[in-house]
Amino acid sequence: MSITVTDFHSHILPCIDDGSASVEESAEMLRREYSQGIKRVVATPHFYPQYNTPSAFLQKRALSAELLEKHISGDRPLPEIILGAEVYFFRGISESEEIKGLTIGEKKYILIEMPLPPWSDSMYKELEAIYTKQGLFPVIAHVDRYIAPFRTFGIPEKLEDLPVYVQANASFFIRKTTQRMALRMLKQDKIHLLGSDCHNMETRLPNLGEALEVIRNRLGEEAISRINSYEREILD
Ligand SMILES: [Fe+2]
Repeated sequence: MSITVTDFHSHILPCIDDGSASVEESAEMLRREYSQGIKRVVATPHFYPQYNTPSAFLQKRALSAELLEKHISGDRPLPEIILGAEVYFFRGISESEEIKGLTIGEKKYILIEMPLPPWSDSMYKELEAIYTKQGLFPVIAHVDRYIAPFRTFGIPEKLEDLPVYVQANASFFIRKTTQRMALRMLKQDKIHLLGSDCHNMETRLPNLGEALEVIRNRLGEEAISRINSYEREILD
């Protein structure tokens, strides 16, 4: 049996951000994930420090997850949901004790959404300080969004020197114009985790299965099992 990976980035929880708009839509997204062989989905609703406090966010997230759990209780098999957040980077994030509540599955890993490039040296330093000062290990969300569109091709090398993991979206591997770059980065171990970053069932669907097909065909099962080992380090 082939190895499957976790969807590490999703807006699958209902009515909490610009992702799923209802429990029905969330259930449909989960069914789609499962049909693609995805057994675990990390729910990462947006956390914006300017609009929310971590405690208010966590309350909303708990309520949303509870509503969804209730709705899908008789609906199995579906992927397991692990709670997390997509935390928007801000100045001083490395000093903020409160972000400790926003980690993935109560572990030391935290998904960070960066502002659009260019990134200053002090931003890279702040990323590093999240680890050195707080002991939290950043996972950079959808790295693909920051590279090709801005022609900032040096970002992967800079991240390689930091205590961070890097997540890429499935679309990076699916889109013909970026596929080669995506596969090269994965091969060079500059991408560690994958996510669909799915928001709904219309325009931003669960599509990790399609990316896994591309990776399997071009790089073989070995590439999938490497991603899988990073996931197990983070989640298990
Ligand atoms: Fe996202």
